[in-house]
Amino acid sequence: MELPPRPATFNFHGVCMTEIVTSNWDNVQDFKAKPDDVLIVTYPKAGTTWVSYILDLLYFGHMGPERQTSIPINKRVPFLEMAKRTLPTGTETINQLTTTPRLIKSHLPVQFVPKSFWEQRCKIVYVARNAKDCAVSYFHFGRMNKSQPDPGDWNSYLEKYMEGQVTYGLWFDHVINWWEKKQTCSNIHFTSYEDLSQDLGRELDRLCTFLGLSPSAEEKERLKAAVKFDNMKENKMVNYSTVPSMDQKVSPFMRKGKVADWKNHFTVAQNEKFDEVYKQKMKNCTLKICSEI
Ligand code: A3P
Repeated sequence: MELPPRPATFNFHGVCMTEIVTSNWDNVQDFKAKPDDVLIVTYPKAGTTWVSYILDLLYFGHMGPERQTSIPINKRVPFLEMAKRTLPTGTETINQLTTTPRLIKSHLPVQFVPKSFWEQRCKIVYVARNAKDCAVSYFHFGRMNKSQPDPGDWNSYLEKYMEGQVTYGLWFDHVINWWEKKQTCSNIHFTSYEDLSQDLGRELDRLCTFLGLSPSAEEKERLKAAVKFDNMKENKMVNYSTVPSMDQKVSPFMRKGKVADWKNHFTVAQNEKFDEVYKQKMKNCTLKICSEI
């Protein structure tokens, strides 16, 4: 199948975006959330698929093997703002879901979240990941995914990333604004890739408390095994091997799954410059995300 050319980025209400995530905008903004919908939000590459799979297993793991072996994760947890020309839009896919609750994925900055999610007081799980690993992961994702803008070489990509000239804009704005929203909004659960990596059992318990779920010890053990990086990498229903725009030979979607892989990419000079920008941008933010564990 011939793929469309790589998309261009443009300024969309102050945030760098592409057509693939803005062309269904009116339907996204008018989306009718249901009170029990659960929204999973991240800046790209922060562990969206990992947490989507965790939630899918928590809610639907008991439904028998068919769901797990025949429905790819992007159909089980549709991408709200996705609007590829050749496929049903995210909103259409969500509206066809028959399971309750509906699990919905999004990368939207907080100011773009459709108002019905707030009106219905839906539960929202926000996952943050340290800015350097997000940059590295996003760069490789751009290389392998033809529906992303061409990332160019690593150095120029990192410059664009620090200026917010990548889809969904500045990491800093995304994470800081969601973190601030969380301070006044009890229906937002905030977790991080690093916390999940460090202690999955603890984070699972926190998630279950937030979601009001109480899986048995056995269910939790089964879930923890299923969501291990190596198992997800082999699992065709969660490793995105079913998506034609992704060339897994260029770089696998399940690439490394590690904290601090940035150390293998950043030069000393790039790291110093990044740390300066980080210090400046985060100076008024109380959120601390470790970039190594
Ligand atoms: P890397 O490129 O650093 O390996 P998203 O789902 O938001 O696009 O994030 C993808 C990133 O999460 C990739 O990071 C991917 O390898 C990592 N990832 C996915 N599942 C994981 C798991 N079970 N454990 C650790 N990392 C995981």
